[in-house]
Amino acid sequence: MCEVSRTVRVDLGDRGYDIHIGRGFDSVLQSEGSGTTALLVSDSNVDPLYGDRCAELLTRRNFKVERAVVPAGEASKSLECIQSLFDHAISGRLDRRSIVVALGGGVVGDLSGFAAGTYLRGVKFLQVPTSLLAMVDSSVGGKTGVNLPQGKNLVGVFYQPVEVAVDLDTLATLPDREYLSGMAEVVKYGVIWDAPFFEMLESNVAPLRARDPDVLASIVSRCCEIKAEVVAQDERESGVRAILNYGHTLGHAIENACGYGQLLHGEAVSVGMVYAAELSCVCRGFSREDADRITRLLAALGLPVGRSQLPDGVPWKALRSAMASDKKARSAIPTFVLSDVMGSVAFNCDVPEDALEAAFSALV
Ligand code: NAD
Ligand code: GLY
Repeated sequence: MCEVSRTVRVDLGDRGYDIHIGRGFDSVLQSEGSGTTALLVSDSNVDPLYGDRCAELLTRRNFKVERAVVPAGEASKSLECIQSLFDHAISGRLDRRSIVVALGGGVVGDLSGFAAGTYLRGVKFLQVPTSLLAMVDSSVGGKTGVNLPQGKNLVGVFYQPVEVAVDLDTLATLPDREYLSGMAEVVKYGVIWDAPFFEMLESNVAPLRARDPDVLASIVSRCCEIKAEVVAQDERESGVRAILNYGHTLGHAIENACGYGQLLHGEAVSVGMVYAAELSCVCRGFSREDADRITRLLAALGLPVGRSQLPDGVPWKALRSAMASDKKARSAIPTFVLSDVMGSVAFNCDVPEDALEAAFSALV
């Protein structure tokens, strides 16, 4: 077996798995077939770049490869695309020993994972994430699903992959805006869990923006370690896993109120993290200095941090109303993940109504 650079274990007993992080599919993808069928799912951007290479490797590893390509973009996280993957699975004669391989960003991962978790009541699933967001977040932890016309991620299952194979070289072709959007989730891990990691990010802004491979290897590994630890403690989000939603209460509301696609997910979460830090200062005594550090780091990474960077004229009322329908809201009252000190947060925090708007007004 080829050597891999780094391995992170997601410790979930008999559903546990390794995340292999390195350079080149050959060195990170460890699964072997035995004449079994692999349905390789990708999107219309990623398939032309990496589909053949991944298919060849799977063939060398004794899989019979079937391929499915969905249009790139969030609209593919749909029940129609699930049906099209089932069509591929049936025409390719996938059986209970088969595997679904997700090659792409979070859209392909969430979609393929849901198909894998439900086809024949569950076939194996392998994640090969190619966006930064998918590498540090969506490919790990087993949340899969699709959107409905009524809302995002409304249908899905928790379904863990058997392996996550992270080829850092694929980041070279990721568009800059998508790359930086993923960086918001990277910063999030420092804020919620690991103050020294946050400091390391502060000291490495230029290499991060230049996609330095060594720095990327270490930050992707650390994010995966943190996510693995959180998921191992609370696989189904009955408690601590909620901390991964830092910045997401306002972030989701921005995406929802401005229309999906206006701001990328990480961009919306970036503004949401600045907002959560402001609320944390007011409600939990978080230090103003650390809140400013969060804003400075996100801005230095090229991410939006204030009201002025939101799409034209999005009114507070629309955001407040979108927060009320957040999946985590209780009786239309939004709850927040808030900082106590850098690297440590509390979840399910209530915030007085007047503080909600005041903190939004405080954003530049
Ligand atoms: P995405 O999958 O749409 O990918 C972003 C864009 O980058 C797409 O156009 C894609 O084709 C392109 N792309 C991906 N890798 C590339 C590469 N290496 N080179 C060139 N282009 C590449 O979006 P995303 O940001 O990866 O993921 C967002 C999705 O993830 C959302 O649907 C969100 O709900 C979901 N998500 C899921 C979880 C989870 O835990 N399951 C967590 C966070 C987000
Ligand atoms: N992205 C949040 C989670 O996986 O729980």
